[in-house]
Amino acid sequence: MMKEPSNIPVLTIDGPSGSGKGTISKRLAERLGWNYLESGALYRALGIAAMSQQLDITDAGKLATLVDGVDIEFKRNQQGRWVTYLDGEEIQRQLQSEKIGNIASKIAVFPDVRRSLLAKQLTFKQLPGLVADGRDMGSVVFPAADYKVYLTASTEERAKRRYKQLIEKGISANLRDVIQDVEKRDQRDKNRSTSPLMVPEGAVYIDSSSKTIDEVVQQVLDFLKNKPSQ
Ligand code: DC
Repeated sequence: MMKEPSNIPVLTIDGPSGSGKGTISKRLAERLGWNYLESGALYRALGIAAMSQQLDITDAGKLATLVDGVDIEFKRNQQGRWVTYLDGEEIQRQLQSEKIGNIASKIAVFPDVRRSLLAKQLTFKQLPGLVADGRDMGSVVFPAADYKVYLTASTEERAKRRYKQLIEKGISANLRDVIQDVEKRDQRDKNRSTSPLMVPEGAVYIDSSSKTIDEVVQQVLDFLKNKPSQ
């Protein structure tokens, strides 16, 4: 396994889908001036690559090999937003669909796929620091992170947020289906045998159900200020 470089601060933000970790992690990375790793986008991009190559998404070996054959990049666009590219092509809109989220969750159960993506994730740890968002950032990918957060919200609240996001993006959705999808995805992400979604040891637990984005961002910044790095 690749060794993590030392003396680079890492803040991990893990949690279920719809917990707000994407938005909050991006804001934190901006406020801190640190790099940002959206690990879910790697799993999603791999799902898109598998679909476009018509790979069997239950074939762990082929999926793991695919990781080395594709180029996944994150770049900021002119508006300063993070955009994901797969082999040079922008895939941001596809990436955010429910279908791709579910495929990502399905291929993420395979240990070989997770192992192949691990090295790529470690390369994001660069000066002046890293905010890493996902399911296993604090438990598996960056277990020695200086700061760990577990961010969650009630299932209903998370489904409502997800539904609102989809509608705002012009993607048609039905709230009842979104609740079911959120529940199914939680089950899969929490119950898989490799790197399941869990509260990492030493993580501060934040329930964002009745908090605004700004409140959560401030709570995490206060946590960083008050906790000396290891
Ligand atoms: O955060 P997201 O919704 O974009 O993630 C999509 C799926 O990818 C998620 O349901 C499970 C998987 N995933 C994972 O297994 N480990 C991560 N670190 C990030 C995402």
